[in-house]
Amino acid sequence: MSDYYDLKSILCREVFYGKGYCSTGGEEVSKILTDYLQKKDGLSVLDVGSGPGGFAFYVAQNLKASVIGIDISENMVRLAQERLASVDTGIAEKVKFQLSNVETVEFPAEGFDAVFWRSSLLHIPISRKEGVLKRMMKWLKPGGQFISMDHCLDGKVDDVEGFQKYLDLLGVEYLNVESYKKLLETVGLKEIFVKEDNAFYMRKTAEELASAEKAKSEILKLVPQETYQAQQDYWVDKRKWTEVGAMNHVYFVAHK
Ligand SMILES: C[S@@+](CC[C@H](N)C(=O)[O-])C[C@H]1O[C@@H](n2cnc3c(N)ncnc32)[C@H](O)[C@@H]1O
Repeated sequence: MSDYYDLKSILCREVFYGKGYCSTGGEEVSKILTDYLQKKDGLSVLDVGSGPGGFAFYVAQNLKASVIGIDISENMVRLAQERLASVDTGIAEKVKFQLSNVETVEFPAEGFDAVFWRSSLLHIPISRKEGVLKRMMKWLKPGGQFISMDHCLDGKVDDVEGFQKYLDLLGVEYLNVESYKKLLETVGLKEIFVKEDNAFYMRKTAEELASAEKAKSEILKLVPQETYQAQQDYWVDKRKWTEVGAMNHVYFVAHK
């Protein structure tokens, strides 16, 4: 995984998604996710797969919460830490990034009010997702929240050219919505709220494609034409897969 995200490809993604983000929706999704959070003073939050750190900064700035962002990619963590050095002290003292694998990292029991998974649980193979979520359950305070944005399958993968190839390339495995929900129930999460929002993703990916086209010369200073083209093709495919329902964009919210 650490090799998958080389620095230039992260910077290229940021031109598409916005500074600090490596997933569709950039800051708009930060707002959607944090709207699900039960607000109170002094929140302690874990962001799993924090990437270049945009979400952690957003949470610290807008909710005055303390945030630990963990990521398995050295390049992601290095970039996030560099940015930490240039944000306001008030925010910087609330945020910490650490190079850690969610499958092995240790945190004290019942230390977090909320754990966010933004396009990150999909990187854990299906056979290991339950183990990871059980670890997370230990870290959550009683009543603490699980809040995620993830991709799910809708059983149409075999019909969609290139989709399985994409999953294999990224080394990701998607569950369908029902299995995902069942998994959350299995580890003991309660009152599971599910929202599929493909319309939002169709709109955002269209915007991101258009803004990438505008920023093409900027992107080509970072990456070669083939990388830019591959990223564009991926966007077009992602829209196609979302449109036919092979790939669903889903929010899951639950509590311990
Ligand atoms: C698609 S990126 C999303 C990054 C960020 N959450 C965002 O939305 O901009 C997924 C992130 O999960 C991280 N990741 C994957 N497997 C991980 C693991 N086992 N432990 C910690 N982070 C992991 C990747 O390195 C990557 O930064």
